[in-house]
Amino acid sequence: MRQGQPNIGVGLRPTHYPFLEPRPQTQVTWFEAVSENYMDTKGRPLDMLELIREDYPVALHGVSLSIASAEGLRPTYLQNLRKLVDRIDPFIVSDHLCWTGLNQQNLHDLLPIPFTEEALTLIVEHVDQVQTFLQRPILLENVSTYLQIPGCEYTEWDFLQAVADRSGCQILLDLNNLYVNASNHHFDPYVFLEQIPTHIIGQVHLAGYTDMGTHLFDTHSKPVYPAVWDLFSSLIARAPDLPVLIEWDEDIPEFPQLEEEALKAAHIWTYHHGQTHTQPLSAPIFSSFPQT
Ligand SMILES: [Fe+2]
Repeated sequence: MRQGQPNIGVGLRPTHYPFLEPRPQTQVTWFEAVSENYMDTKGRPLDMLELIREDYPVALHGVSLSIASAEGLRPTYLQNLRKLVDRIDPFIVSDHLCWTGLNQQNLHDLLPIPFTEEALTLIVEHVDQVQTFLQRPILLENVSTYLQIPGCEYTEWDFLQAVADRSGCQILLDLNNLYVNASNHHFDPYVFLEQIPTHIIGQVHLAGYTDMGTHLFDTHSKPVYPAVWDLFSSLIARAPDLPVLIEWDEDIPEFPQLEEEALKAAHIWTYHHGQTHTQPLSAPIFSSFPQT
């Protein structure tokens, strides 16, 4: 990653393949690909990922490692992941701090974990297995949750720190997920941000949620909300070299609109750390944020 400049990426999504195939100049500086979409497959998706990799750093982000599963890790999944990692040479390999299935069935959901010593021991053991197998550290992402499991012995931020400290992995901090959880479970997201040391954070996600009336739902279907931009502003002021990603997975806009969202993150970086060659925005980041 570049030092002293904003490192803002976007997710590589099939809907943008026609736009990206002619290899246009873009304002984003890296891409994140969902690992499972390119594992054990051939043809256009893998060709596209390799094309992007020729021009940009790429991060691989998994959704079904199931690091917290009491059933243990799946050897075939890890072998397929390692093949992809060897082929693409990503600068980050990440997944989620959750479990995703039972009885060898993938539920295609990021399910919450109890923040207990027992879960911590299991997760650290699994992270060690993954990192040993891949021969590299991984990042684990905080997930959005809609219930709190009784009997937790740690706060979420202390649990994340303990996982990182004991396993040597880093945290992919999703600020949208943090905001969703803070709203759904009634805590102050800035307490979380103050408590978690920046050296254990290896990457940031930004996305948009949907307000369901009774709770916030992590849909990745909208622009980043002002409250999440404020959290980002607070974090990037203290940790300027973090790679930052705009995630947009439903109602995905055309690439230029996604790029504009990435530019907003770059402008907030510039607000804190000085001038770069960031292109002007077509609209304010949000009405109360100072213009750069
Ligand atoms: Fe995320």
